[in-house]
Amino acid sequence: MDSQQEKIRQEILSKLSKTETLNSEDLSKEFNVDHQIIVGIIKSLEIKEIISISKLEKKEISLLENGKNCIEKGSPNIQILKEIKSGPKTKKELNDFFGKEIFSHGFSMAMKSKEITYDKKTDLITLNIPEIPKNDEFQEKLLQMQKENDPEKYDQKLLKDYQKNHKFITIQTLKTFQISKGKNFNDANTKFETDLTTELLIDGKWEKSKFSKYNYNALGKETNNGALHRLLCVREQIRSIFLEQGFEEMPTNNWVESSFWNFDTLFQPQQHPSRDMHDTFFLSKPARSHCQKIYPDYFERVKDVHEKGGYGSIGWQYKWSYDEAEKNILRTHTTAVSSRMLFLMAEEFKKTGKFTPKKYFSIDRVFRNESLDNTHLAEFHQIEGFICDYNLGLGHLLGTIESYFKKLGLDKLRFKPAYNPYTEPSCEIFALHPNTKKWVEIGNSGVFRPEMLEPMGLPSNISVIAWGFSLERPAMIHYHLNNIRELFGHEVNIKHTQDASIYYFNE
Ligand code: PHE
Repeated sequence: MDSQQEKIRQEILSKLSKTETLNSEDLSKEFNVDHQIIVGIIKSLEIKEIISISKLEKKEISLLENGKNCIEKGSPNIQILKEIKSGPKTKKELNDFFGKEIFSHGFSMAMKSKEITYDKKTDLITLNIPEIPKNDEFQEKLLQMQKENDPEKYDQKLLKDYQKNHKFITIQTLKTFQISKGKNFNDANTKFETDLTTELLIDGKWEKSKFSKYNYNALGKETNNGALHRLLCVREQIRSIFLEQGFEEMPTNNWVESSFWNFDTLFQPQQHPSRDMHDTFFLSKPARSHCQKIYPDYFERVKDVHEKGGYGSIGWQYKWSYDEAEKNILRTHTTAVSSRMLFLMAEEFKKTGKFTPKKYFSIDRVFRNESLDNTHLAEFHQIEGFICDYNLGLGHLLGTIESYFKKLGLDKLRFKPAYNPYTEPSCEIFALHPNTKKWVEIGNSGVFRPEMLEPMGLPSNISVIAWGFSLERPAMIHYHLNNIRELFGHEVNIKHTQDASIYYFNE
């Protein structure tokens, strides 16, 4: 409480010691402060039961614009009479002069009392009386209302007329408080404890202390609760898009992957440039995985399809290296996870003789040895997915992609034929950036090749449509960011995280 409020508090208490009741509105007028300030002071006194308060509702008349105008310039009909005293005027002239409100009130009042005549043909309004009345009852009544604003003091019909018909006044309900002494009034200046503390208990002071009552309506301190990083907000939204459509989430908790699952099982030849040190992070410890030992048969089948082909393919025709396949890397795409899942599906099929169609997705981190700039980082997130079923083709792929991006609010898409060693056909996806109006690449996709699926042992009449989308790009589009570092990494503004709400693209 500041010193002015403290002074008011003391004065209220001293007044109350001399009288039975006080009213908050009177106090606000007397101290010339906002009513809310008085309310604040008396509420804090009430909590300690120094005073008790009861709510009062009071109705009061207050003047509207038309009413104020009338007090200043006379009632509307008198204003018109004065204006046409020197000669008749047209409706338009008077309307322009007084404004629509005053003119239309004045006109109808003066017509009713026959103080004017109106000639429709000439559109002229003429004065009908020799002299303009000296007293203006209408204006006087308003002046009276301005001074004595209790609506009870007036004839209700008259009030209604001023209120509804002419919109000169309005009747407001004012909430005020009646104040009287409370049970602790005499302790007004004793210190009140808010909490029962250990100290009070130990030294026995609690017995003599006065405690303030709990204020169950207090708002409490704002808590600093956990919040989702912007990227995670978008991830949650995307996750729910897939879950709503019946997709299951793939386990992606292995950032370290063998080259075998990341490249070889995807029919990506070992000389492919993306397997170069310049594009991929290789691990030095442990440098090798044990894929050959874990999947001996499958390992051979992958080797064969690379070297000699099969399933209608001639393969890549080169000497496949076990060594190369076992090198550990940081996964360069989550398609490595899709490959593992498809392999598990094939194993299940081999065991049961039954194939179950599946829809899978994942959203997780991948790593590439890239040069960093405003749109590229060495680690980023991929939204991976595939549908594995009978007779799927390009049409299903494009339809699935389109409906996904539509849910993200990106409905202007372009598909461009592309190349991946593991898909045929393949296509890249571009979206129109709503701000820059440029087409930005937001994903890559395709239909997995038989050279990838058949060595796993999946039935030859099933097909798999698959995609890898960017998480950062749509998030940057949404948050209007031009630099990826504002979204991911140590340059992220913590305030953005604290302020983030769970984000829905279409809102
Ligand atoms: N793995 C591809 C990439 O990283 C995306 C992709 C996934 C393409 C599945 C086709 C099929 O860009």
